[in-house]
Amino acid sequence: MTNEVEAGETGRTGPDTGAPSGPPTGRAPAATVEFRHVSKRYDPGAKGPGAVNDLSMFVPAGRICVLVGPSGCGKTTSLKMVNRLIEPTSGQILIDGRDVMQEEATTLRRRIGYVIQQTGLFPHLTIGANVAVVPGLLGWSPERRRQRTDELLSLVGLEPARYRDRYPAQLSGGERQRVGVARALAADPPLMLMDEPFGAVDPIVRERLQNEFLRLQEELAKTILFVTHDIDEAIKMGNLVAVMQTGGLLAQFAPPDEILANPASEFVARFVGTDRGLKRLSLARVGELEPIPPVVARAGEPVALVRPRMVDSRFGYVLLVDDESKPIGWIEFGGVPRDGSLDPALAVPASPLVSRETTLKDALSMMLDADVQAAIVVDRQGRVAGLITVDSVIERLREDRAHEDRVIAAPEAAPAVAR
Ligand SMILES: Nc1ncnc2c1ncn2[C@@H]1O[C@H](COP(=O)(O)OP(=O)(O)OP(=O)(O)O)[C@@H](O)[C@H]1O
Ligand SMILES: [Mg+2]
Repeated sequence: MTNEVEAGETGRTGPDTGAPSGPPTGRAPAATVEFRHVSKRYDPGAKGPGAVNDLSMFVPAGRICVLVGPSGCGKTTSLKMVNRLIEPTSGQILIDGRDVMQEEATTLRRRIGYVIQQTGLFPHLTIGANVAVVPGLLGWSPERRRQRTDELLSLVGLEPARYRDRYPAQLSGGERQRVGVARALAADPPLMLMDEPFGAVDPIVRERLQNEFLRLQEELAKTILFVTHDIDEAIKMGNLVAVMQTGGLLAQFAPPDEILANPASEFVARFVGTDRGLKRLSLARVGELEPIPPVVARAGEPVALVRPRMVDSRFGYVLLVDDESKPIGWIEFGGVPRDGSLDPALAVPASPLVSRETTLKDALSMMLDADVQAAIVVDRQGRVAGLITVDSVIERLREDRAHEDRVIAAPEAAPAVAR
């Protein structure tokens, strides 16, 4: 059965090179998922909207698509239709172009990882046995199951020797969530469904699990449908965000920045909140701002050479650097001696260092914490690449706001809701 699935995957994603023999090695290809006019009514006789209404969206391979919306808007129902725990009333769901209804449900489920709301570990099975459920169903040898279980427990940060023989009740909430993720990954599925996978833990553990998972995804590059009711989590985790509203309606389907910049409706705007500008700062990086060139001087450089560079600087400080262009500290223009050379002892090391990859939210927070106006942008070698200032970040917020005002004044300028 394994080979059948693998052969199918190979055939769809590239030239047919024949089914691989033996256990799969390397990374399983990621799948595409498409909803085509999918609706679900639990009670076909009832009036009013069903649980899911005419949902259409396409998720490319290797991307995380987050379904977000208030309780009861149809998120779990949408997920469960993908692995046929629930069947749609109308419409189609295609995985790699193939209608899920045309595949046997159990075969389908074995190649879709599923992390259910409230982790859903089997309480009477050990952690190891929980992780190995699908490999067991796929008929893997005990040795191979054991190997895979240990590999996955390590991957999610649980030391196999300490955890594999315990029972779910002997784990913390955060640890159980990790086991849930490990179990869903067990058979290396090309598609993962995750229903509020980090829902049941406190905000600090949640943040850590999110970061670990994003790091893991950089390696795994799975296609993931991820459900949450938390808009901040959606923005952080999603390459694409599907905002759903009560009545199972898709209110907007777009990358997170687009949702924040151009909410497609009043509902989306209210759902993402009034701090859209600040949220966007967590998506923007320092590298997107034009760096401000500081007046740079080398330690020991004669003042006579530095003064001409100070003439048309807006920023009243000299940035002193060492021979490798790494920052030493600031000397206020007023503190620059009349002659002689620039002594490192005159410099105050005040500014936080940021890289082009630092988010604007973090950079702003570092500057506010240090109570300074500027942060020094350094490259990978730690050399000065420029400055960003509190003002330049605020300016960026203003530009976003001006853009939003234009959209609100002319709503037809907002892009179409979903594909
Ligand atoms: N088995 C069922 N039978 C009848 N109605 C159901 C069933 N499961 C869900 N519903 C209804 O369908 C709607 C969507 O439910 P669903 O579980 O998909 O919501 P959700 O967005 O996942 O909510 P939550 O954030 O609370 O988990 C709700 O009105 C719910 O009451
Ligand atoms: Mg749900």
